[in-house]
Amino acid sequence: MTNHEKAKSVLFVCLGNICRSPTGEGVMQHLVNERGLTSQIMVDSAGTAGYHVGERADRRMREHALRRGFDLKSRARQLTRTDLEQFDLIIAMDGENLRDINRLHPQPTATVKMLSDFLEGEWPVDVPDPYYGGEQGFEEVLDMIEAACPKIIEFLSR
Ligand code: 4NP
Repeated sequence: MTNHEKAKSVLFVCLGNICRSPTGEGVMQHLVNERGLTSQIMVDSAGTAGYHVGERADRRMREHALRRGFDLKSRARQLTRTDLEQFDLIIAMDGENLRDINRLHPQPTATVKMLSDFLEGEWPVDVPDPYYGGEQGFEEVLDMIEAACPKIIEFLSR
């Protein structure tokens, strides 16, 4: 079975595909495994830019994730137009990612949303880019993604 033959597929998208979207992928895959949904939900991530293609997730991001039990295994790849036709759901981490996605494919067949669409309460609209900031930025990425992932599974299960 190829990945897209699974019932549903979700692609997390950020700029570099080394911090935020690998965390989305890792947290979501953990939840999918835990809930016995591996044959039903396929999870991946990509970056709108190609600077880090082939790299593992940022070491700081991996360390913060691992402390919460999430093993980030992704290798960075760049988002393609085909992704926007093959995945069921695309999740942008911030408004700039969303604009870049729309520019790459003005009429995607995928449903395109922002991560914060799945958050209730007092959260920022954008998942802040942690790359040039301090340790707290990596924790905030994890907080937002951990809060959103169960809602994303609910959405995919509808
Ligand atoms: P990400 O973070 O989009 O969450 O992977 C970034 C990683 C690298 C760069 C920017 C953002 N960069 O400019 O190299």
